[in-house]
Amino acid sequence: MLEGKLTNLRSIEQTDQERFFAWVNDVEVTQHLSSVRYPVSRADEQRWIDDAPRNGFFGGVRFAVETKTGEHIGTINLHRTHVEDRKAGLGIMIGAKNHWSQGFGTDAIITLLSFAFHEMNLHRVWLQVFDDNERAIACYRHCGFRTEVRLRQEIYRAGRYCDVLTMGVLRDEFEALHGATVAAGAEAQ
Ligand SMILES: CC(C)(COP(=O)(O)OP(=O)(O)OC[C@H]1O[C@@H](n2cnc3c(N)ncnc32)[C@H](O)[C@@H]1OP(=O)(O)O)[C@@H](O)C(=O)NCCC(=O)NCCS
Repeated sequence: MLEGKLTNLRSIEQTDQERFFAWVNDVEVTQHLSSVRYPVSRADEQRWIDDAPRNGFFGGVRFAVETKTGEHIGTINLHRTHVEDRKAGLGIMIGAKNHWSQGFGTDAIITLLSFAFHEMNLHRVWLQVFDDNERAIACYRHCGFRTEVRLRQEIYRAGRYCDVLTMGVLRDEFEALHGATVAAGAEAQ
């Protein structure tokens, strides 16, 4: 388990399935997710869960996000992890809407970035975000991400085209904000 200040990041379990199924079928949660456009079946969600145990290694980091009281509120992952370039993409979904805008997303990301830079020895982490997802952009800026690229009218959602931003954070930029040790944001247990 990785321990942040507000959240813990743990392995995904079979017992998480019903919560994930509800979240990925909630349009309010998925409206800003490029990876979820169509309704998701229980079988599809089960396949995604079944894949998780094989993912606990450098090339496939995927965690459940929990509050400090053990409430499962979402998921966070690193994808397209590149050994030579020491870089990865980051994705996050806080599915429990009653926990939005309370700092949980920021804490989970800082915790994962600390692990990415100080345990996995990554150099750069990037992500993509729809430019109308203001909550997410504010959260990513708190974590140290900077906007690098604007892809104009990159995605079509809810009847209109939307710009997509690529944001990135380098290890030294993260350390300047959040410290240079694992203990600053996360402790692996
Ligand atoms: C995006 C997401 C990860 C952010 O996590 P979170 O826990 O809600 O965010 P945080 O509370 O850590 O940070 C959000 C910040 O945005 C601010 N915010 C909220 N709504 C905002 C808005 N409409 N405009 C500007 N800022 C806003 C909050 O006040 C907070 O800033 P503060 O800490 O200075 O007050 C989470 O809301 C989520 O998963 N949403 C659904 C799926 C999604 O959009 N995923 C990201 C896809 S790229």
